[in-house]
Amino acid sequence: MKDAVAAELTPHATEELDPATLPIGRVIRLGGTPATGPKRWFPPSPCACDASGDPYVAVVRDRNIGGQQGAIGACKKLMDVTTVTDMVTYNLALAILEQEVGHEKDLQSLEEDLDLMVACGRTEPRRPRRAPRAGPRG
Ligand SMILES: [Fe+2]
Repeated sequence: MKDAVAAELTPHATEELDPATLPIGRVIRLGGTPATGPKRWFPPSPCACDASGDPYVAVVRDRNIGGQQGAIGACKKLMDVTTVTDMVTYNLALAILEQEVGHEKDLQSLEEDLDLMVACGRTEPRRPRRAPRAGPRG
């Protein structure tokens, strides 16, 4: 399962570059100043982007699902604010939202796989023991 989660998260990490940089470009284009540096990102962020420090694969996966959901919520809010006033920003948020929904679904299917594996491990019927061989007749 660890390999499956790692295989899922590696391309996600690359794909997260657009959601990280496109809004910055839009802020600059609109004449604003993007927050520079992680300490300035946290206060306005709707997501708790902290690392848990727990390497258990289910914890890593769940935290990532939470991160995707936080990003989806942020995109929805941005779309609500810009739907009438700024179609470019609206479309940017929509594109990011679509990507984040894909990430969330990918991670949720890993969650289902892990749940199934755990459930099978708990409920799979054990193979019955063979009856002891009968001794020689005599
Ligand atoms: Fe994502």
